[in-house]
Amino acid sequence: MTAIVDCKGITKHYRQGSIDVPALRGVDLAIEQGDFASLAGPSGSGKTTLLNIVGGLDRPTDGTISIDGQDLTALDNEDLADLRLRKIGFVFQAYNLIPVLSAVENVEFTLQLMDVPAAERRERAKEMLQQVGLESMENRRPSRLSGGQQQRVAVARALASRPSIVLADEPTANLDTQTAEDLIALMSRLNERYGVTFLMATHDDRVISRTRRHIVIADGRVASDERRTLEMAG
Ligand SMILES: Nc1ncnc2c1ncn2[C@@H]1O[C@H](COP(=O)(O)OP(=O)(O)O)[C@@H](O)[C@H]1O
Ligand SMILES: [Mg+2]
Repeated sequence: MTAIVDCKGITKHYRQGSIDVPALRGVDLAIEQGDFASLAGPSGSGKTTLLNIVGGLDRPTDGTISIDGQDLTALDNEDLADLRLRKIGFVFQAYNLIPVLSAVENVEFTLQLMDVPAAERRERAKEMLQQVGLESMENRRPSRLSGGQQQRVAVARALASRPSIVLADEPTANLDTQTAEDLIALMSRLNERYGVTFLMATHDDRVISRTRRHIVIADGRVASDERRTLEMAG
């Protein structure tokens, strides 16, 4: 198996005035191609901090992190932003769609930043919306979509660049039970059909029970990491 993400000895300390807050205390973690993994742990255990570092949104205090064999810590901010754009898809708790853009324009946005030609851009964005079952809503703005639909647009947007990995931070936290189950079933399908690699920070049992790899972080360290086979569902 090929490691897409390889974290070695990641530490992260935040400074709050004169106080030093250790958020990560030495994380060793490799995410393999095709993983469908949950990252669980109590609030404040460092899940968001780790995802932000893996996704190149933040830098570790110490340790190394590589994506597809490329060392992120060696990149300057510009190259890091470029790698983030091409290799990482993000899904956030609050959807984070651009309110003035339609669903299809939101999905296209990343492709625009990547200088994908306009016609191809639109075609790929439509294809992604189709994959999340929203082809009939492509012209709607986020305010005219339900929370679950907005999150599906966010998943389509995350996939549009054909990233090496999709990082999701509490993706179901704002969704009711049925909608959360639909979303996790959708992500699971994308993983199985297209081999999209997912790492999802969550303390939602609805998500955890559907993942094939379950990582638990506690006090800024990996406390357990298990793989399991699931009964086919959804
Ligand atoms: N920007 C920040 N400044 C200071 N402390 C922070 C910051 N972000 C997170 N922390 C602290 O780091 C620890 C881990 O936080 P976080 O990664 O958000 O955990 P989780 O996502 O698991 O809830 C917590 O103690 C939190 O208070
Ligand atoms: Mg968090």
